Amino acid sequence: MSEPKPLPIAARSEGCPFTPADELYEMQRSEELPRIMVPSPLLDEFEAATITRYEDAKNALSDTRLRMGFVFDPDAPRTMLNQPGNLLNYNGADHSRLRRMLTGAFTVKRVRSLRPLIERIVAERLDEVERAGPGADLVRLFSTPIPTLVICELLGVPYADRADFQHRAQIGLDVNTSRETQIRNLAEMDEYMATLIASHRESPGDNLLGSVVREHGGELTDDELVGIGNMLLIAGHETTASMLSASTTLLLRNPDQLAVLRDEPEAVDGAVEELLRYCSPATAMPRQAGEDMAVRDQKIGEGERVVISLLAANRDLPEAAERDLDELDVRNPPKHHVTFGYGAHQCLGQQLARMELRIALPALFNRFPELRLACPEEDIEYRTKALVFGVRNLPVTW
Ligand code: HEM
Repeated sequence: MSEPKPLPIAARSEGCPFTPADELYEMQRSEELPRIMVPSPLLDEFEAATITRYEDAKNALSDTRLRMGFVFDPDAPRTMLNQPGNLLNYNGADHSRLRRMLTGAFTVKRVRSLRPLIERIVAERLDEVERAGPGADLVRLFSTPIPTLVICELLGVPYADRADFQHRAQIGLDVNTSRETQIRNLAEMDEYMATLIASHRESPGDNLLGSVVREHGGELTDDELVGIGNMLLIAGHETTASMLSASTTLLLRNPDQLAVLRDEPEAVDGAVEELLRYCSPATAMPRQAGEDMAVRDQKIGEGERVVISLLAANRDLPEAAERDLDELDVRNPPKHHVTFGYGAHQCLGQQLARMELRIALPALFNRFPELRLACPEEDIEYRTKALVFGVRNLPVTW
């Protein structure tokens, strides 16, 4: 077995932040499952066997012997990840019990009913961009607030509290926040979320968290409900914000593809699916072997960590035989991809994320048909080392 390489799993090509690093392609071709070092702000850096092929990724994500990478530990300090109620901390029957209580809130029908609300949030953010004028930073004024405001609506955060809530969410979700600040900030989030839960317990709101309290409040502790609120924020915010910024940047670099999304409403759903495949904002998923097992014929020992690169797997779909998956082609969406994961933990909010993207992206390019970068392309900064990809700044003009 070779020595672990110090390659960040999220590594992208030097030349293009949307292209996986050459090393990931090398790993994909290799018969051996390479070991690499994975940086992590919440755990210490860890060594993991790396899965980069599409078929292996699907098998691993649906293999219950591979447990979630972060398991709730009541004795460890609470962080955004380490808390009860967070589905990403649970396995097996405990996971199914919690997930079952939340699926009703995310059905296609429930999500469809959110369309007018999302349209309103998007339109208000576009007004804000217009008011800021040319040079406006889309990360700050558009991509970041849209998912937070949607989550505020799902949780029933009153208007008066939204600025504070957004601020705390930003601190909690920023990978550069130190562990101490994370813990202090989460304590404040928890305190706020607990008052929100108490008010839903008294009179369940007409929103997602209200419906969970109404339908399953008797089966859930307050602590679990607090964790559920925090989880929706963690899982739904950064990923969607990243997708909005990354898709916008990518489309500005590919005007012919942008024109399809702006001018052909019937092509929007497919275009969003191709953008999801291509950007893969949740770059890689960590797991830990619950028992001795094998991936292909390669032994993974009990307790060994595994990391599954969704970014690499999405460039290795069966369609690779017919088209170049390193090209963005919004007219040729993938039949399947693993951007939302696969198996028992597959993204619960995927229909909501799709809805946000399908509304926000065409609305942006319709409001500003001449939209272009207000800085040289090389001045855009990307976050390429964290497990969730990010765009740090996106100044635009029109
Ligand atoms: C899980 C991606 C948006 C809620 C996941 C997973 C991925 C993912 C890859 C699987 C994690 C794993 O297997 O370890 C994304 C992407 C999004 C997005 C790329 C946006 C483009 C959302 C939104 C919400 C949400 C908007 C809700 C507000 C969740 C939840 C889970 C999850 C609750 C945990 C499911 C479970 O463990 O059973 N997401 N997500 N996500 N996502 Fe999303």
